[in-house]
Amino acid sequence: MKQCHDIIFVISLSLIVLFCYNLTASALKSDDIRNHLGTRTPYRFKYNKDDNKICFQNCKDDKIWMVLRHGTRLPNDKDIVGMNTILKQLKIDILLKNQNGKGPLSKEQLDWFENWNNNTPLAKERYLTIEGQDEMILLAERMQKRFPNAIKKKYNNETFLFRYTATQRAQQSARYFTIGLFDSNKFQHIQFEPALEVDTTLRFYKHCAKWQKQVKKNPDTYKEVTLFGQSKVMNDTLLAVTKKLGLDKTLTLDQVVLMYRVCGYETSWHKYMKSPWCFGFDEKTIKVLEYFEDLKKYWVDGYGYTQRAACMIMKNMFHTMSSNGPSATFLFAHSGTILKLLTHLQLYKPQCPLLADAVDEGRPWRTSDIDCFASNIAFVLFKCNDGDKILTLHQEKIVKLPMCDTELCPMADLEKQFHNTIHNCNFTDICSID
Ligand SMILES: *[C@@H]1O[C@H](CO)[C@@H](O)[C@H](O)[C@H]1NC(C)=O
Ligand SMILES: *[C@@H]1O[C@H](CO)[C@@H](O)[C@H](O)[C@H]1NC(C)=O
Ligand SMILES: *[C@@H]1O[C@H](CO)[C@@H](O)[C@H](O)[C@H]1NC(C)=O
Repeated sequence: MKQCHDIIFVISLSLIVLFCYNLTASALKSDDIRNHLGTRTPYRFKYNKDDNKICFQNCKDDKIWMVLRHGTRLPNDKDIVGMNTILKQLKIDILLKNQNGKGPLSKEQLDWFENWNNNTPLAKERYLTIEGQDEMILLAERMQKRFPNAIKKKYNNETFLFRYTATQRAQQSARYFTIGLFDSNKFQHIQFEPALEVDTTLRFYKHCAKWQKQVKKNPDTYKEVTLFGQSKVMNDTLLAVTKKLGLDKTLTLDQVVLMYRVCGYETSWHKYMKSPWCFGFDEKTIKVLEYFEDLKKYWVDGYGYTQRAACMIMKNMFHTMSSNGPSATFLFAHSGTILKLLTHLQLYKPQCPLLADAVDEGRPWRTSDIDCFASNIAFVLFKCNDGDKILTLHQEKIVKLPMCDTELCPMADLEKQFHNTIHNCNFTDICSID
């Protein structure tokens, strides 16, 4: 009997080992091109799989405030048109050049091209996809497991606050998030804050005249990204992608960027299907396209400028934490919101500005990691024996803010560090052009 027990033990142990091994084996290698799809990288490769309750001694999770980028969406109108014109033509060229085993693509790869089509209607541009719905449901479930006191299982309109921007993708993200939190047969009673056409909190930049003028519409903002687009590294990349697809006319930057974008979208949408538009890339060229996007986001939404208006959303966090309001606040917004808030928090700041002259390989500013679909930032208020403390999470992982000594940061310290954010953040003053 004893021996039998041992054998069962050994068998189950090896099963566990096998199971764990399989899990690691199925995780993506860091070089895998699916890890480098910029702001269209799938969240399923990036989230924190550990959803155990997060505890600190002598503390209790009391409130949560979280801002999320909407989940995986359909392309914008420009990309849909590009798929229907540029990519449909390229598909024909690629099939022709690779006919009868003449080209470098394999039979399987050609089958993917043969079967490729785009049937996204223009009317549904940027709509949330099924994958985006799943991301929100599962994300909500994990957050509730981690912070069961702050995020109750039972819905109450006084303790929960849901708000989204006036867009289909943010509104639907909010809806599916609540499905993850509550019994689905009760979700119809959930109240959502009315969406604002001009939302100076969730989309503080969009109607900020000063940011529009000094950053978004300022030609200087695009200087480095334009230079990088004409660099030798990029030209070599365009040539390499052309060759890998068996084409003889060198692809343009616009064509390759469109392929990169669609490779990202289609990889995000489908767990078990391949996007043939990824076949043009390898681990070297994909990283050049990734840098091209990171460079642009660095200047438009990141450290290239101060992004002062981001105080608007951070102020909302402090206000929520210190008031008697809801214990769980969930805000559904956009990539531009997430990146500027990360910048305001001084997270992922490269040591030197990102420039066109060389790819900064070790940069922490990598949109594939920090701004993929469904990216999110959460602040959790812990009531501790020795006072109120704030825990910060990004992509569901605990992060230490550079201005705090510890991950669990005393509220009073944080308020001191963000004094200007709390007391000197007036949208009219920051955003009007004198
Ligand atoms: C919450 O719901 C109750 C009952 O439906 C309603 O009377 C109350 O005004 C609501 N409170 C808020 C803050 O909307
Ligand atoms: C890259 O190609 C573009 C377009 O053909 C050209 O204008 C540019 O000078 C090239 N850059 C380099 C560094 O060769
Ligand atoms: C912001 O400043 C303007 C004047 O610059 C003032 O009229 C307004 O009341 C201020 N808003 C807040 C919320 O303090």
